[in-house]
Amino acid sequence: MCGIIGILGNSAVAGNLLDSLKRLEYRGYDSAGIATLENGVLTRVRAEGKLRNLELRLADHPLLGKIGIGHTRWATHGRPTEANAHPHATSRVAVVHNGIIENFRELREALAAENIKFSTQTDTEVVALLIDLALSRGLSPIEAVRETLPLLKGAFALAFIFADEENLLIGARAGAPLAVGHGNGENYLGSDALALAPFTNRISYLEDGDWVVITRESVTVYNIENHTVVRPINIVAQGTLVADKGNFSHFMAKEIHEQPEVVGRTIAHYVNMANGTVSLPEDIQIDFSSIDRLVISACGTAFYAGTIAKYWFEQLAGLPVEIDVASEFRYREPPLTGRGLALFISQSGETADTLASLRYTNAGGWPSLAVVNVPTSTIARESTMVAPTLAGPEIGVASTKAFTCQLAVLLALAIHAGRARGMLSAFAEQELVTALLSIPALMSKVLAHDVEIEQLARDLAKAKDVLYLGRGLSFPLALEGALKLKELSYIHAEGYAAGELKHGPIALIDETMPVIVLAPKDGVFEKTVSNLQEVAARGGNIILIGSATAATEAGLERETAIVMPDVHHIVSPLLYALPVQLLSYHTARVMGKDVDQPRNLAKSVTVE
Ligand code: AGP
Repeated sequence: MCGIIGILGNSAVAGNLLDSLKRLEYRGYDSAGIATLENGVLTRVRAEGKLRNLELRLADHPLLGKIGIGHTRWATHGRPTEANAHPHATSRVAVVHNGIIENFRELREALAAENIKFSTQTDTEVVALLIDLALSRGLSPIEAVRETLPLLKGAFALAFIFADEENLLIGARAGAPLAVGHGNGENYLGSDALALAPFTNRISYLEDGDWVVITRESVTVYNIENHTVVRPINIVAQGTLVADKGNFSHFMAKEIHEQPEVVGRTIAHYVNMANGTVSLPEDIQIDFSSIDRLVISACGTAFYAGTIAKYWFEQLAGLPVEIDVASEFRYREPPLTGRGLALFISQSGETADTLASLRYTNAGGWPSLAVVNVPTSTIARESTMVAPTLAGPEIGVASTKAFTCQLAVLLALAIHAGRARGMLSAFAEQELVTALLSIPALMSKVLAHDVEIEQLARDLAKAKDVLYLGRGLSFPLALEGALKLKELSYIHAEGYAAGELKHGPIALIDETMPVIVLAPKDGVFEKTVSNLQEVAARGGNIILIGSATAATEAGLERETAIVMPDVHHIVSPLLYALPVQLLSYHTARVMGKDVDQPRNLAKSVTVE
């Protein structure tokens, strides 16, 4: 949602704060700022818009302090203006904040009753003013933070520095991630290890309710009861933290083209390549034969991965699956009866709705399995078991490689479940694992379509509305395709079950509306062909993503086809995701949109 960084250094920290904010910009980028302490006085520089604007501002107004905090924002309360940019400060304290203070209106009223004035519309300013009030009453900074934190409701991470406190940095975590970086004679706070990577690979992750008092010589963590606790220092492999575009124009392009490698790496983590069977990592101990219900919950692209997995678990393992978007699941509160397993899917592992849903099933006593791309994330740490995707850092806000890695993990789990429940023979398992192992090479072939798809995107870019159609395993992929297109190009797009076309959406069809049809050779291919013909008969502008013979078999004349290699239908979503991703990428690029940081979005939605 937002990125925060704090540095307690031995030389001017402004440049390092800025570098860290560049690493955090994927978390939010509608304004940014830093504050440092110079001769005991808090000084801020902030700017609206991209980090580049802050960089320019700092060039004109350099900050020289050796202790500082920084923030890159995704607005939740208050418009993305400079006035609302963090850090928020009084003369006594400066604070940066990620998340939402849900009770900030009542806190604001209480402060107003003390005749305290506000200069912004943000919830963060309320925190600064509460601390300031406590300091004005003679409390020390540590006492002021200890007294204030229990007043705050919501999911947040905070970092504070204080006037005249040259050796004090305080942080707090309640629902949004916050990590401590352990340096040599310096110490740090950051939203994630990526932000701290330039300074240290010795990272401690705060738990919900923790707050931390940091000096250059010490790190003291307190839990929600204000008892000192020890959070282990992890040595985070630097290699997993390097995120740069390489020779691609965008992170998204790089991440799309990384899929053969990272999907291959993920598959290898879950199969025994020697005998072609699924071999789950040792710490994933699930007896699927004893489970009578699987509940899946996630958001956005991860939800579509889960929807595809529903077909796999039901078809391959005969396991009933219930799936819901996490923002509904958490409030629907489904009865957790029977012997169930809760499965959560999340690239970031920090999505608030998904975390809340996990906490619901944890409270209900169900075991939980998290398919996440960040094994140190909150969802990972609060789940019973973790099935990691090995996609590497995904910086592009639109999820691509994480999605196909999620599918690889989910299919391995479904095959394992099928074997455990006696639904899949050893032969069938080998056939499916072989199909799965064929995906990375086939992905490389499909990525060779890049130029051809770019041509198609030039027409798609002129559309006002786009329809994606699919049946069976391709239906959730149609939903994902529509999400990709709208979140990147801002063109309105809808994904629909192809069989539903005649129940209304066919009224939309005319020559101005591109209809993208996903038609792998599967058990419903003929049905999809009929839908194709219904669209063609009404002059629909079809883009067919299918096998070499699909267009001819569909008897289409005016079709525009993306010809896909033949692939086992069960694994087709992993492969058909690529043209869907490339189409949205090129359309957005052709339209001059901000591909890696689309408007209004953030990479990790850590507030509800
Ligand atoms: C995907 O392209 C979107 N940016 C978004 O829907 C994302 O998938 C969703 O917010 C879930 O994020 P998570 O996987 O980190 O939980």
